[in-house]
Amino acid sequence: MQRILEEKIRNRQAKVGIVGLGYVGLPLAVEFAKAGFEVTGIDLSEEKVAKVNAGKSYIADIPEGILKPLVDSGKLSATRDFSVISKLDTINICVPTPLRKTKDPDMSYIVSACQEIAKHFHKGMLVILESTTYPGTTDEVVLPMLESATLLVGRDFFLCFSPERVDPGNPVYQTVNIPKVVGGATPACTEVGALFYAQALQKVVPVSSTQVAEMVKLLENTFRMINIGLANEIAMMCARMDINVWEVIEAAATKPFGFMPFYPGPGLGGHCIPIDPFYLSWKTKQAGIEARFIELAGHINGQMPMFVVEKIQNALNEHSKALKGSHIHILGVAYKKNIDDVRESPALDIIQLLERRGAKLTYSDPHVPRIRFDGLELCTDPDAMAKADCVVIVTDHSVFDYKTLVRDAPLIVDTRNALKGFVSKNIVRL
Ligand SMILES: NC(=O)c1ccc[n+]([C@@H]2O[C@H](COP(=O)([O-])OP(=O)(O)OC[C@H]3O[C@@H](n4cnc5c(N)ncnc54)[C@H](O)[C@@H]3O)[C@@H](O)[C@H]2O)c1
Repeated sequence: MQRILEEKIRNRQAKVGIVGLGYVGLPLAVEFAKAGFEVTGIDLSEEKVAKVNAGKSYIADIPEGILKPLVDSGKLSATRDFSVISKLDTINICVPTPLRKTKDPDMSYIVSACQEIAKHFHKGMLVILESTTYPGTTDEVVLPMLESATLLVGRDFFLCFSPERVDPGNPVYQTVNIPKVVGGATPACTEVGALFYAQALQKVVPVSSTQVAEMVKLLENTFRMINIGLANEIAMMCARMDINVWEVIEAAATKPFGFMPFYPGPGLGGHCIPIDPFYLSWKTKQAGIEARFIELAGHINGQMPMFVVEKIQNALNEHSKALKGSHIHILGVAYKKNIDDVRESPALDIIQLLERRGAKLTYSDPHVPRIRFDGLELCTDPDAMAKADCVVIVTDHSVFDYKTLVRDAPLIVDTRNALKGFVSKNIVRL
């Protein structure tokens, strides 16, 4: 079975399926279609399926000029119908893995995708989970849903975990040139998984098990979350001592070894850094180990939106104004620059905190036309900036587009050092 599937993969005859066509799944589907495979994307969203089939991209990193020719040539299509799986040879699962309110992993998307896959599963398939999750998920949750007396893993089908490391909006590193770690449920599974990725991506890094591959992703994101937490705590200390934290980090970063700069900010955002480390702490709690670094960094990072609100309040106070009734304009609501994603964005927390304190709010973001959350609905309105009592820079991409308007504001709170070098008595930095 292994040799037959490997042969199909080598000669591009293997039919590839990608379940979940979001920020992770669509770029992956495109890379395999570019490599010459026939790729079918499966998603529950009618809108996404229709857009893919019309060659219309909804992910900024995938230009229509790339997507449309792949669709027109029949290399890429999308469907909501899981029965296509009976004709597929490989499946990558790229569905969401959010946290519940209690910070427990929400496995429901993985489970429901696997239930559908199991209905049409057949001998000779390769299944790879890419959704970020706790160590053990592939073997403990996915494997029992697919394996049976007649379908044995490593002999009749192949199962791997491969962490997705995509960084939306990164112009240098994209799906094709980010090394791909892959670990299988058996050595044969790792071999097939590594061969599969090697057809479309530049570098593959095989590891010895699914658990190692799952843990790799959590180490990477936990490393980032904790170091950002450290930078945020240093920023709060510097604020107390009236030291410019940005200057400190810039100077420390000149050390050619043993230091890597991380920067403070208004809080963590996105679908990865604020969430993934809690998958690890949830799992280790079951093994009786408390993930203290994660909990502490989570606590410090969680304080940042309130720290920003206090900065705004103090800055207004210096101008003899109360927060209540003041017009605050939020510049940038995406969770990081050059993207349109507001999931977990600290801008939303800041807006909510300000709104509860009676501020009047407007925002502008060239990538996000509208935000809707917790009963609030706002549309981007760059012109409102000119009338604001205070402009708060939350995402730095917006500053480039509206630089002149920002500099004219009576008061600026800059949480990203986006106006580096701009000297004014009206600017307050983190
Ligand atoms: N976005 C990132 O930057 C990033 C980076 C690395 C890893 N990840 C991880 O990759 C996974 C996917 O993230 P994403 O950002 O692409 O999410 P996303 O929300 O952009 O896309 C997920 C897609 O899955 C679809 N879907 C949900 N349930 C489904 C089901 N049962 N069957 C078929 N389709 C289903 C949704 O309609 C959606 O289109 C998550 O585990 C995430 O943590 C994301």
